[in-house]
Amino acid sequence: MSSRPTPAPAPATGRRPAGIPGSELAGPFPVGEYAAALRAQLRSFARVQLIGELVNLRPSRARVYFELRDSAGAIPCAAWREDWEAIVGRAGDSPEGMQVVVAGGCDYYPGSATSSPAFSFAVTDMRVAGEGDLLVRIDRLRKQLDAEGLLQLQKQLPRPLLPRTIGVITGPTGKARDDAATNRFLCRLDEIPETGAKGFWFGAETERFGVFLVRQGERLFAYANSCPHLGSPLDWQPDRFLDRSGRHIICGTHGALFRITDGFCVSGPCAGAALKKAAILCQGDAVYLCDDPF
Ligand code: FES
Repeated sequence: MSSRPTPAPAPATGRRPAGIPGSELAGPFPVGEYAAALRAQLRSFARVQLIGELVNLRPSRARVYFELRDSAGAIPCAAWREDWEAIVGRAGDSPEGMQVVVAGGCDYYPGSATSSPAFSFAVTDMRVAGEGDLLVRIDRLRKQLDAEGLLQLQKQLPRPLLPRTIGVITGPTGKARDDAATNRFLCRLDEIPETGAKGFWFGAETERFGVFLVRQGERLFAYANSCPHLGSPLDWQPDRFLDRSGRHIICGTHGALFRITDGFCVSGPCAGAALKKAAILCQGDAVYLCDDPF
């Protein structure tokens, strides 16, 4: 691929203003003609395959835009919506954040009096860099870590069936980062009695916040663990959020009672106020707190 496109000058049409006095460069050429020549030149470049991480995916009505990146650089890419849907259909999922191989060639939209020009690599086909590629890299890494003795300690660590905290190593724009940052695992449904409640705390110091779940059979309700009266936690003993009858949430400090279904305070010093609802997500029997819980 040539590194420096040199579009052919446009043929002379009518009278043109003079160039810069003393300049030996050809022209001036009308910019639209130059842009069209640039597009023709870029389109004449060899079509190739590129490999990199697919990030910044932005679908539009007709086309899908994204970037392909590696540690040394990036290329803006675009695919026609129809081609993209066929590609995603084959991949089985959106390849955002994954290592992919794309096929295509350079293109240039010359813009107009009212729209901006744009360069893109026009993608006509793509494949996710296969499981095989990944397994080879994992195997190489495992051997390297083993040679450094780093796997010995790892083997001795207890591995809980259901870890409470996990770490994810990914790029700053990787899709895996979004997935991990979006939801926090709270518990499994069967860890809460059929008519009972369970509290959870997150963060530290000024960032610390609590939420609690109330279960009524298969229904779950989630609230911030903060009484609207004074902002104190409601549970006077861990996980004791309900009154004796199990029909109301109770604040252990001054005894305010709240409806379980909507957190509305029906009696006590903050009557008429309400608990702040928290957003949760249930997947199978696992309960997650959504990233922006309130
Ligand atoms: S702090 Fe909850 S009722 Fe006063």
